[in-house]
Amino acid sequence: MPLDSFFHYHSNELFCEGLSLSELAQEYGTPLFVTSRSSILHQYHRFENAFKALNHLTCYSVKANFNLSIIKTLMAEGSGFDVNSGGELYRALTTGASPEKIIMAGVGKTAEEIEYAINSSLLMIKAESHSELKVINDIAGRLNKTVRVGVRINPNVMAETHPYITTGNSEEKFGIDEVLSEETFSLIKTLKNIRLVGLDMHIGSQIFDTVPYYEATLKLLGVKNIAEGMGFKIEHIDIGGGFPITYHDGKEATSVEDFAKKLVPILKNANAQIIFEPGRFIVGNSTVLLSKVLYRKENYKHKLFLILDSAITELIRPSLYQAHHDIYAVKKTGQQIVADIVGPVCETGDFFARKRELDNCQEGDYLAVLSSGAYGAVMSSNYNARRRAAEVLVNDTEVQLIRRRDTYEQMVQNEI
Ligand SMILES: Cc1ncc(COP(=O)(O)O)c(C=O)c1O
Repeated sequence: MPLDSFFHYHSNELFCEGLSLSELAQEYGTPLFVTSRSSILHQYHRFENAFKALNHLTCYSVKANFNLSIIKTLMAEGSGFDVNSGGELYRALTTGASPEKIIMAGVGKTAEEIEYAINSSLLMIKAESHSELKVINDIAGRLNKTVRVGVRINPNVMAETHPYITTGNSEEKFGIDEVLSEETFSLIKTLKNIRLVGLDMHIGSQIFDTVPYYEATLKLLGVKNIAEGMGFKIEHIDIGGGFPITYHDGKEATSVEDFAKKLVPILKNANAQIIFEPGRFIVGNSTVLLSKVLYRKENYKHKLFLILDSAITELIRPSLYQAHHDIYAVKKTGQQIVADIVGPVCETGDFFARKRELDNCQEGDYLAVLSSGAYGAVMSSNYNARRRAAEVLVNDTEVQLIRRRDTYEQMVQNEI
């Protein structure tokens, strides 16, 4: 990502807002996720502004970064929340988020999760199969409730992105095929504890091309016509998330304003509230993973490795999706090197970058892996019995610890 007002060099030293990353590393240790609060606010308001012509609700997709302080930050701005599990629902509710602004997705919700969602009286629970619709209906009946349901439609479009994060075509597990809409609505007519209030899609993540998004939205609006022709009143059209960010300085993502230009005209007269579920767009560029260079190693072919104290356990994206993250030395030296930047975990796939050019750095120096705010900390693990990293939130010259580093004691607590 290009450096900006949230992450910038000042006298050759990388800062997050008004704080030096070296000082944060010394105070809190590494690996450390450092998040700029202003960056999150900027992205949230930029999104709101892009779609301000629409009657809409933005439901931040909690899966991108579920830290309670980040949920709270967005809640204070008026955001709703998209949750994908009982755990994410618990996190949203526990911060005080209003259930009328929470929607729940998930291709495999358990009966326990469905009951939790029904008892929480959410804006809507989104069903992804006929079997799930029946289970929701049965549980609602047992609880003597009528439940507000949305149906996730699979519009069968191909969004050009990494194959692991394309979700809106009929080869994938998500949603109910658009061509089965009539059958689905006929089924819902027989389910007395379900009230169909919404239609939903999510065609993938980090989508650069507005066209598949546009085509899928048209299809969703077509399905709305079918539903309304069958006597349903669709209150919400949820077009999902997937809005991209720039990871690679020089390979700029399509702007959210360009998406709005394409989508607003077809959504303006939808006669329903439009729901968005951005995750990555809001938090992706808000965070760096601050890491220490433990060792420099040069092999006999003069290949240089920088071995960090961070690993795939903190950021699996390079290994899982071949994702590019820009990496900067916290102290600029002005001399360049080329190195493989790797972690200490015993996997060949434990790397951040291969043959990467960056400022020369020595053992003990710090590096910042940029754009680590979405699908970073939330995908971290305790593999190799490593402690999950600490997280801090920076607000101008103030810093707040928003997640303590795991301890060894805590990591064995649940074992017998
Ligand atoms: C149903 C759903 N909504 C929203 C999102 C958020 O996507 P993004 O972070 O690309 O905006 C996802 C991500 O996988 C998702 O599965």
